[in-house]
Amino acid sequence: MKQYNFDEIINRKGTNCIKVDALETVYGKADLTPLWVADMDFRTPDFIVDALKKRCAHEVFGYTFASDDYYHSIIRWLNTQYAWEIKKEWLSYIPGIVKGIAFVLDCFTRPGDKVIIQPPVYHPFRLVPEAMQREVVYNPLKQTEGAYEMDFDQLESIIDEKCKVLILSNPHNPGGIVWTKETLARLAEICARHQVLVVSDEIHSEMVYPPFRHYPFPSVSETAASCSITFMAPSKTFNIAGIVTSYAIIPDDLIREKFYTFLEARELSAGTIFAYEATRAAYTYGEEWRKQMLQYVMQNVDYVANYMAENIPQIKVYKPQASFLVWLDCRELGLSRKELVSLFVNDAGLALNDGAMFGSGGEGYMRMNVGCPRAVLERSLPALKEAIRHR
Ligand SMILES: Cc1ncc(COP(=O)(O)O)c(C=O)c1O
Repeated sequence: MKQYNFDEIINRKGTNCIKVDALETVYGKADLTPLWVADMDFRTPDFIVDALKKRCAHEVFGYTFASDDYYHSIIRWLNTQYAWEIKKEWLSYIPGIVKGIAFVLDCFTRPGDKVIIQPPVYHPFRLVPEAMQREVVYNPLKQTEGAYEMDFDQLESIIDEKCKVLILSNPHNPGGIVWTKETLARLAEICARHQVLVVSDEIHSEMVYPPFRHYPFPSVSETAASCSITFMAPSKTFNIAGIVTSYAIIPDDLIREKFYTFLEARELSAGTIFAYEATRAAYTYGEEWRKQMLQYVMQNVDYVANYMAENIPQIKVYKPQASFLVWLDCRELGLSRKELVSLFVNDAGLALNDGAMFGSGGEGYMRMNVGCPRAVLERSLPALKEAIRHR
């Protein structure tokens, strides 16, 4: 069996990648170790690159439709990953999940309508509705011992008839929470009862660490299937965010008819040659690579957790149940938001995401991306330790 090398250091400078080439613009310094934007520093796997090269070799790139092979690769993947059977007509390409959220808001809500999110959560869940003049209402997650839970009593108390959509991160970013079937079913019951459409963003779902198990939202109950739009993509798992490979899945006839008519009228569901090819290759040949990558990233998570426990015990690590984003509770350092960011950026030379950007409950936290060669962490964490020692 082929062994993939995740230790390889690849220089991404000068490729216009946000993670490296936007450091100067965002942090005011270019010479930081980039542990922020949620893509990985690994080489995109050979079976995807080969499929793209093969298609490139044809040298004619005219208008293209989604082939049966494309649809069937997704259908098979969802079946093997989650034991979930879907129908081909439930699927549609979308040009990005964040854009997909905006399309849902355009299609199903009007300015002034309310959109529920559960912070701390991926910041575009707030930014997109706000930019579209929708009112964002918050159902902050409840913090328990080193973990998070959804607060259903609070949710019931904030829902009114102006609430039209709830945006769910399943699994949850940041925090890496894999929601249980019971939690999702209860959420579905509440949302369906109040006629709130659930947009389930499942971009991190292929990176769930055993023994945790991902449940696609519509798969948990008939109610969930009747009140939701699910977005997925191979982009996080196979490190192909720049190719834009997202897709929607909608089991409910009425929601599907309305949303797909909206997309088709604007040609928003027309994908690109490279998106179709990359998705098909990832889902046809990708399972072994996915497993090896996940094992490597899990060891990175363990490395961070062990290092912090032994060397920087003031920082508490939330071990993610999914994906490569590690949520660091830095509150014991007793620093203001500005001081905490400055400690990481100016003193340690590390670019992480400031937890406060994810909303209420994120203050005092930092989000570290460990989708990188271990050597990067092996020099970053001692730099952080030194920076804290010298404070
Ligand atoms: C929860 C979540 N949703 C969506 C995205 C981005 O998806 P897309 O690039 O398809 O818009 C990210 C990327 O970090 C994410 O973490």
